[in-house]
Amino acid sequence: MRIVLLGAPGAGKGTQAKKISAKFGIPHISTGDILRNELKNSTGLGNKASEYMQAGKLVPDELIIEIIKHRLAEGNTGNPFLMDGFPRTLNQAIMFDNMLASMGISVEKVINIFVDKAELVKRLMGRRICHSCAGVCHIDLLQKGSENRCPICGGELYTRKDDAIKVIKERLRVYENQTKPLTDYYAKKGILYNIDGSGTENEITERLLQVL
Ligand code: AP5
Repeated sequence: MRIVLLGAPGAGKGTQAKKISAKFGIPHISTGDILRNELKNSTGLGNKASEYMQAGKLVPDELIIEIIKHRLAEGNTGNPFLMDGFPRTLNQAIMFDNMLASMGISVEKVINIFVDKAELVKRLMGRRICHSCAGVCHIDLLQKGSENRCPICGGELYTRKDDAIKVIKERLRVYENQTKPLTDYYAKKGILYNIDGSGTENEITERLLQVL
């Protein structure tokens, strides 16, 4: 399986990618997670990406393409893969297609998870992440009095800096202008599948599995 997950910030790409990756044993490649890890370790790449991420802008294509080249060159991800948050611009999509063509492979399915804007904002504002196990949850599902504790491991929860309302608005604007047009690009190739991203996590997983 060589799959790309598309969708706005908060659509549930990361949540679903973890489940699909575990079920089929496909490597889950999240450019957002890779960048946050670089940032945490204060690497050159992390430092270059930081100001873009904190402002809700896209990191320049050249940096992202380098990340993907390295990741695919690691050998265990060349075939299959599950991309989450990449590609995000038309330029990235074209460069990715060329990169894969040089390896004699191509993207098989692009799954676009769509969710209405008010729900996206609600999901992002309530997202919490665990310092210990990196699990992602939503504040609405945490028990009263335990809002700072991970429901999986009890670790301390934190909020992503780019989940502040001002940055969320910018991320959604950037998505509309730069990433949403990719749906046309992949529809023309005949590999786009649209999935309704509203409902429970399990309902959405079922819809994804039907497409896969
Ligand atoms: P990235 O980390 O990729 O962020 P994103 O695309 O904005 O997506 P999110 O991680 O915010 O949302 P998600 O769809 O994964 O939702 P999740 O499953 O967590 O990128 C961050 C930044 O890095 C970018 O802004 C950019 O600067 C840079 N970057 C990354 N890739 C790049 C690229 N290719 N090019 C350039 N720059 C790049 O769910 C969200 C919340 O909703 C959670 O709390 C979850 O528990 C909850 N939830 C999930 N499903 C449901 C459901 N069904 N019902 C209710 N709640 C739900």
